[in-house]
Amino acid sequence: KFDNLAQTPPMGWNSWNTFATDINEELVKDIADAFIDLGLKDAGYEYIVLDDGWSTRERGENGELIADPKKFPSGMKALADYIHSKGLKFGLYNCAGSKTCAGYPGSRGHEYQDAKTYASWDVDYLKYDWCNTGKLNAEEAYITMRDGLKAAKRPVVFSICEWGDNEPWKWGKDVGHLWRVTGDITPCWDCELGHGNWSSWGIWKIINMRKGIREASGPGHWNDFDMMEVGNGMTQGEDRVHFGMWALFASPLIMGNDLRAASKETLEILTNKEVISVNQDPLGIQGFRFMNENDIEIWIKPLANDGWAINFVNMSESKKELNYDWKKEHIGDNTVNRNLEVDKFTYEIRDLFKKQDLGTTKNNLKATIEGHDILMVKLKKK
Ligand code: DGJ
Repeated sequence: KFDNLAQTPPMGWNSWNTFATDINEELVKDIADAFIDLGLKDAGYEYIVLDDGWSTRERGENGELIADPKKFPSGMKALADYIHSKGLKFGLYNCAGSKTCAGYPGSRGHEYQDAKTYASWDVDYLKYDWCNTGKLNAEEAYITMRDGLKAAKRPVVFSICEWGDNEPWKWGKDVGHLWRVTGDITPCWDCELGHGNWSSWGIWKIINMRKGIREASGPGHWNDFDMMEVGNGMTQGEDRVHFGMWALFASPLIMGNDLRAASKETLEILTNKEVISVNQDPLGIQGFRFMNENDIEIWIKPLANDGWAINFVNMSESKKELNYDWKKEHIGDNTVNRNLEVDKFTYEIRDLFKKQDLGTTKNNLKATIEGHDILMVKLKKK
């Protein structure tokens, strides 16, 4: 790997899901303040990333990118200073094509120049999109920007955003720190929303879209299941499922809601340190579907110190009684040669959302799971 950044999945906030191009410096400062005041920084969130729409419609006289003076009158360096003064990190967006998806200047032909501009503004993170790319080869285009960032000599987390069409899990590891695996997320359980010739996808569409990619993910190089929609309109149970699944996937945890207006319940989900610790587990193994029985999906993830995270998700809309016999199936992950050894050892069970201990694997696990809700447990060897 070319550097030591993103050894655990990046955590932060991005403007797109709620604000699209309607962004400005007051908003960003409010978000930075919210990171501190609402305990988000304390929970591990670090990056504040401006998505599409931060620049002027045209480049400057010397071909340079310019922050939109109406939206960002103090300029990007001042904004970065503000974010850094809070102990947080600053991210920007651009695109490999001639224009961004929203029609602002793209980086094509300006990669090294733009990387220098970002370095001069103390940018720590770059999300790099894939609109208006014509016949460009994706791997090559992302390598060009990676090399531009390297030449500018400021460490930058590089977020590849080409939606999985060019299989970035096959080449992204040496190019960026995370890569989107699907098109855009939308806040619903399993819907597909059409917008002309492209769609956005509910959380279960996103979860089920790619097969066989989990081994590409690991420290420094993550499968990115898109920015979160927690707090953007699903039920609290569905938001818990969303957050619990992104944690189990070791996906980047990038919030996409308006933190100034977030409810107590939304914040409780987003700042749940026990769930976050599953996402940030140092082994960085992406979890996977173990089985589906009676509308309850069981997803598992090996953790450090012989621990396991297990998500029991009620896919139905009605309440289900779980009575899970640990001895019945052999929970394990062949790719890392690890099994849950319930015959040899006892594991303590912790409910991560209710923050309660649930006994040990000596007994069946009994619980009620509401419709579209989750029981997320962590197993710890006694
Ligand atoms: C497409 C990306 O997938 C989105 O996350 C967002 O960055 C938009 N482009 C911005 O135009």
